[in-house]
Amino acid sequence: MIVALAFCGALLSSADERAAQIAAAMTPHERQVLVVGDTGDALRNGVATGALGSAGFVPGIPRLGVPPLQETDDSVGIANPSNARRRDVATALPSSLSLAATWDPQVAYRDGALLGDEAWRKGFNVLLGPGLNLARDPRNGRNFEYLGEDPLLAGTLAGTEICGIARQHVVATVKHFALNDQETGRAILSANLTEAAMRESDLLAFELALEGGKPGAVMCAYNRVNGAYACENAHLLNAILKHDWAFAGWVMSDWGAVRSSGAASDGLDQESASNLDPVKLALGAIPESRLLDMNRRILRSMFAAGLFDVPPQRLPIDYRAHGASALDAAQRGIVLLKNNGVLPLPSSVRRIAVIGGYADAGVLSGGGSSQVMPVGHPFDVPLGGNGRVAVYDRSPPLDAIRSAVPAAVSFVDGRSSSAAAEVARRADVAIVFATQWCTEGADLFDLALPNGQDALISAVAAANPNTVVVLETGNPVTMPWLDRVAAVLEAWYPGQRGGEAIANVLLGRADATGRLPITFPSSEAQLVRPKVPGSDALLSAIVSGLRGYRLAVALRPFSVDYTEGSDVGYRRFAKQNLTPLFAFGFGLSYTRFRYSGLRVTGGNTLRASFTVSNTGARAGTDTPQVYLTRKRGEAEMRLIGWSSVTLAPGASRNVTVTADPRLLADFDSTAGTWSIREGMYEASLGAASDALQFHASAPVAGQALKP
Ligand code: BGC
Repeated sequence: MIVALAFCGALLSSADERAAQIAAAMTPHERQVLVVGDTGDALRNGVATGALGSAGFVPGIPRLGVPPLQETDDSVGIANPSNARRRDVATALPSSLSLAATWDPQVAYRDGALLGDEAWRKGFNVLLGPGLNLARDPRNGRNFEYLGEDPLLAGTLAGTEICGIARQHVVATVKHFALNDQETGRAILSANLTEAAMRESDLLAFELALEGGKPGAVMCAYNRVNGAYACENAHLLNAILKHDWAFAGWVMSDWGAVRSSGAASDGLDQESASNLDPVKLALGAIPESRLLDMNRRILRSMFAAGLFDVPPQRLPIDYRAHGASALDAAQRGIVLLKNNGVLPLPSSVRRIAVIGGYADAGVLSGGGSSQVMPVGHPFDVPLGGNGRVAVYDRSPPLDAIRSAVPAAVSFVDGRSSSAAAEVARRADVAIVFATQWCTEGADLFDLALPNGQDALISAVAAANPNTVVVLETGNPVTMPWLDRVAAVLEAWYPGQRGGEAIANVLLGRADATGRLPITFPSSEAQLVRPKVPGSDALLSAIVSGLRGYRLAVALRPFSVDYTEGSDVGYRRFAKQNLTPLFAFGFGLSYTRFRYSGLRVTGGNTLRASFTVSNTGARAGTDTPQVYLTRKRGEAEMRLIGWSSVTLAPGASRNVTVTADPRLLADFDSTAGTWSIREGMYEASLGAASDALQFHASAPVAGQALKP
């Protein structure tokens, strides 16, 4: 795919020299300043001197003109944890999984530019995102902060998002390096898999994002990888990141993730939030040359992003324009999963019943460090008396539907299935809003919609054949009622204009353009690990009444063996011949697209050309996908390219997709290279990973490629 980006790359080619000069001028004490941070201070009472009130703060060195690092989370907008900056709102974008569902690097770039702009105008110069851990488990509580299950899709979108951030003179941080693919036991588990498997999956996503976006920083993860904690994992940090990938920026620890006082020798450059760390870096024991290197890396990324030359300024933010971007992004990410023709809702509909999901108040957002205080007052729903709340962005789908249609629109909250069915029976169309709250720090125990919502949907569907289900979820869910409903929309966490976005798609004011960036399994039995590792122990500790610290220490260190290797998500479904509920890449449109003329050429890589035509009656956006399906006669399955194509009715466009050769290769861990064996390689074209219509092969030359 060809992405025309307005900006991507370092601002200053002299960043390295300027960094080296400052590092050389530092006194021994000054060399210790930039390598240790504080919480900044959202997590304690009171704010560290000079900190704006956010996730992280690293003091500057005024004598040398080095500004402090003001670090903020940004997965879905500029976070304001615990309201540390009183009433400081920010644009709440749709979740990152929604961004991944757009499959559109231009949307990622625009999101990045928006985040960078708001950060800079609030005084921040480091963003703690994007996150791109692969969705190995559809119950991971943080999948909503990540970009799906495929390394090419996640790495490409993260790369362009970083370019957008860098344009605003803010450092971007890719996280969590690496394999923090579940939250249960994240600080004690060891994610185990072979070198080749991780290079071809989770690490490939990071490799592509680093190449595409050149971020200033990488955040190492809480978990262990093959036994060693990620922030003291010399293989990950020194051998792969800094040596093989020649990463020139700095590695910061996740908050509270430093476990060894000697982690600097393993590649850690900066201890974030040292007040949370169980063990602190022994600064005095770090050899001088290494300490210089740590400082140089930090300073070089600061210079490259423009932190010295274009420092943040407190200026007004154009929330209106940013709201329009949030609306467009939410619309682009909505995936139409089923439609028997009831959508888009025709203007002849007279009575609409809107049911459940707090659709009268707003749209759901995910919890944890990424939580944004959105523009417009949020609405909190308590989650069972422990002080936790689910935050709803104040964009009620009910109001948006009401203001857009002449029909009579009634609302019931859905707490009583029989009352909901009664209202649905009297309507022409019933729209049920179903929600699934996900948060950092906890995984889901299963894939079912919580709180009896399956029963609610079934009752409504029994009362009205024109039942439409709108999902606001952070992950895939199972749908026992699927055959009995007329349509299903996956709206993810759609952000502060989400209600309007949902209404626009329901009413056909916008095409349904999203495509799944994650497989929807038909049940937990289809997963490699039917239960989230560690969840049984966690559950029994909860049942026995343990809470807080005692709960945290009740779990014993354990391993998660990623036996599926690099066959994450759809790759494993294809290899094991499993039929998902909805496949990776799937999504319906309100118009029809036809593909023709697939031509595949070989050489050093595969290049696929074809024509996409809109054969329907309205404009729409399609995402034709190309997969590698055969390697030298053997079945294979890997996304190698796609295009996002908007077409007027009757229009056609020629598309060419060129595969990154690494996607055709195996990682040879003995040689430390990507290796392509000479032979015929087959590419297949289709509208989803399970709907490949055209196949063509071409010879590819044998070669070894450096990582
Ligand atoms: C999260 C990071 C986040 C940091 C600072 C940690 O708990 O894992 O993603 O950037 O907190 O808020």
